[in-house]
Amino acid sequence: MEFVQSVSVLKEYLEFHREINFKLDEALEKKLEDLDVKFKNVEGLKQIKITRKEFFGDKNKAFDQFCKSRYTVRNYTKEEVPLPLLYECIDLAQRSPSFCNRQPNRVHIVKLKEQKEGILNIQNGNRGFGHLAETLLVITSVVSTTKGIHERFENHLNGGLFSMTLLNALHFNEIGACSLNWSVSDDKDMKLREVIEVPENEVVLMIIACGYLPEEFAIASSPRKTASEITVAH
Ligand SMILES: Cc1cc2nc3c(=O)[nH]c(=O)nc-3n(C[C@H](O)[C@H](O)[C@H](O)COP(=O)(O)O)c2cc1C
Repeated sequence: MEFVQSVSVLKEYLEFHREINFKLDEALEKKLEDLDVKFKNVEGLKQIKITRKEFFGDKNKAFDQFCKSRYTVRNYTKEEVPLPLLYECIDLAQRSPSFCNRQPNRVHIVKLKEQKEGILNIQNGNRGFGHLAETLLVITSVVSTTKGIHERFENHLNGGLFSMTLLNALHFNEIGACSLNWSVSDDKDMKLREVIEVPENEVVLMIIACGYLPEEFAIASSPRKTASEITVAH
């Protein structure tokens, strides 16, 4: 599945740039053309073009339908997402379980253009869409909530659970979102702390870029392995 999907994405990339008459780097274009010929019949899932109405059509449905309707969106309008609504989403995320209910997660809301640019310039996965984000939510965790070597993964683990609920809460409130990894070197992490003030006892876990969505946009299909492919019933 991974191979077919990767080839398919590259073929779609070539097709897209041909359609808009964009001249790709010659060496890259040659490689993509070779791939296109070699794997003529390979067809994975393509991007899904969708309207905003369709995208949020299942947001009030049963959990299974809601869950299947959430996708990462990398396209936002300039419309302001009000702070009280973001606080509502964060309150919902706070319903996530945490170890001994210690609630280590924190959120830094970033809306100022210069601060968003400063952060996105350091982050390595937002090229081509990051600048559209109306809000960045920097998810952190208070390290002093954990004690002893055996708890060393709890900040990241609890942050993952929290962030997932937050992504669902954003979707429920019709706000499009994209998780952004914070797998960065120490110097980049320190740079972020020059852009916004993050207390020393908080570790940055990830960032969520978000905003209201245009009338129409495209989402990556991102197919999943099935439960039977990833599960062992012992
Ligand atoms: C921790 C984490 C980090 C991610 N980092 C990035 C990123 O840097 N850039 C990006 O475009 N997408 C990023 N994503 C989004 C994933 O690519 C996306 O969730 C995945 O392809 C599944 O698609 P879906 O969210 O539409 O179901 C990240 C997701 C997670 C959970």
